[in-house]
Amino acid sequence: MKLSERDRAMLDGAEGPAAQEAMEALVQLGNAYDAADMVDIGYAHVHAGMALYKGDVELIERIAGQGARMAVPVSTNIANADMGDWQGTGAPEALGLLQKRAEAAHRTMGSGTAFTCTPYWAGHWPTWNMHIASIESGVTVFANSVLGARSNRDGFFATYAGITGRYPRFGLHLDENRRPTHRVTVTARPQGTADFTALGYAIGAKLANGVPLIMGLTRRPSLDELDALGVGMATSGGVAMFVVPGVTPPYAADHDDPGLPGVTVAEADVQGVFDDFCTGSESGFDLVHLGCPHASYEEVRHYAALFAGRRVAEGLEVWLTTNRVVRQMAREAGLLAPLLAAGVRVVSDTCPISCHFACTCSPDPALGVEPPSLRTILTDSAKQAHYIRDMIQCPTLFTTSERVVDSAVTGRFVPRARPNE
Ligand code: F3S
Repeated sequence: MKLSERDRAMLDGAEGPAAQEAMEALVQLGNAYDAADMVDIGYAHVHAGMALYKGDVELIERIAGQGARMAVPVSTNIANADMGDWQGTGAPEALGLLQKRAEAAHRTMGSGTAFTCTPYWAGHWPTWNMHIASIESGVTVFANSVLGARSNRDGFFATYAGITGRYPRFGLHLDENRRPTHRVTVTARPQGTADFTALGYAIGAKLANGVPLIMGLTRRPSLDELDALGVGMATSGGVAMFVVPGVTPPYAADHDDPGLPGVTVAEADVQGVFDDFCTGSESGFDLVHLGCPHASYEEVRHYAALFAGRRVAEGLEVWLTTNRVVRQMAREAGLLAPLLAAGVRVVSDTCPISCHFACTCSPDPALGVEPPSLRTILTDSAKQAHYIRDMIQCPTLFTTSERVVDSAVTGRFVPRARPNE
């Protein structure tokens, strides 16, 4: 792989041990994928340092202690506790305090400490043709498909890219890999973010991989719906980019190659996703979750309107997860008041599958983590339902946002309306 003078200097340790280690890792990655050279990146969305995973916060502290400083604007991904109010979610203090150590290490390195899966709603908005790196698959698919930036699904390499400002040129950083590989004809008529997560989930399940060209949508989806569509696809499959004509920049007519393999996604496929994630007890749900991926300001506004003047049913816990920037804006705009009055907990930095409920890791016993025993979690997101099933192994219920709120208020599950209802 061709390296620049600065790449070589970093390899020789000219920018310190952290940059040296980061460049070594990126060279290995580039060689593994036959990258011709490296590109400058304009932004990275990086690993938070997860307090639940033994040694993970210490890893971030070690990198910061070695003098790592972010070379480009950086945002941090989801964490294991709400660092402003871990007590509110029932997380043990030791976990909250350990998570805050990762926050401090990131601040030392210059990262923007948004701790979210939707950093774009916190102001990180990479633009067309910008090379970026991202640990979060939802950020990758949104950046590629809606913003026209260029990103692979990166894991910890995003941190190395943030430290060096460099990334090997392969995968979706190359024009030839950004062309549609499948033509997806949507005959379903999705409305709202829950439907769009289910549509994306159905597409990802049919394709597994590739770049779907999505035809048949009868209107331009909202930004929140596009976000939901992408996370759904990235959850059930390895999709990292979709193309919607008129949305994805740049779209050329020859992208609709008649030779592309085609699939159709009908209303029955979308409804099937809702049905598959309705495994829990319709009157026995004990946690309601809204805001997956982390809610935008517009979504918080929508949820605030849905809950205004109502009250969550006795004994139910309702979480709305968003990032701390949106939470602060919502607070200042008076949008938190109706939510809090209704009994909704507005949580930042984490979500049910990332917080102390997660049981797939082996937390340090000293943290005192005891996941609550939950009977059923009700959600308006196919992504959240998927990971609740796989990571918390808890039964789920899945319906539209409006009906999740109706369910939370009445204590009785209101399923999504079937097409003829
Ligand atoms: Fe974000 Fe948690 Fe959903 S990390 S995308 S709110 S599963």
